[in-house]
Amino acid sequence: MRDEAAGALEELFAAAEEAGHRLAVTTAYRDYDHQFALYDSWYREHGQEWTDAVSARPGYSEHQTGLAVDILTEDSHPDELLDSFGGMPEGRWAAENAHEFGFLIRYPEGAEDITGYRYEPWHLRYVGTETAASVFEEDVTLEEYWDQPPAPDYEYDYGEDPAAP
Ligand code: DAL
Ligand code: ZN
Repeated sequence: MRDEAAGALEELFAAAEEAGHRLAVTTAYRDYDHQFALYDSWYREHGQEWTDAVSARPGYSEHQTGLAVDILTEDSHPDELLDSFGGMPEGRWAAENAHEFGFLIRYPEGAEDITGYRYEPWHLRYVGTETAASVFEEDVTLEEYWDQPPAPDYEYDYGEDPAAP
């Protein structure tokens, strides 16, 4: 991750530990090829509509900025990204406290039409403490806060959709 975000994440993890929650990173920075491989494998298995709801297309992921990180409980399997994290004590702690360290739970439950993505309780995006506090207090998404559309209708020709009728 970028230095500022990495430092903030270390502080967040330390505070979580003081509160009795041990967190771990699954993925932080991903380069284009990594994002391509992820998107492509889901696309081949599930088609475009499903994949677009769970993954940014290569070139468009926050993970490529070095400001996003996927977290889980320390004892979860590293490849596991589960909706249930949001209901675990660690996930609830993160949702309540991440903004104090400059992070947002970026894709909240029930905001799929606004963000363009399914609920991702594990995906944190660093925006700095000032913005994170405002977004948290206003209880909005970053799209609403910055008046941005959902994951855009990219100009991105991915070839034939394997799930198309
Ligand atoms: N899963 C999020 C949306 C990403 O691929 O960046
Ligand atoms: Zn993520």
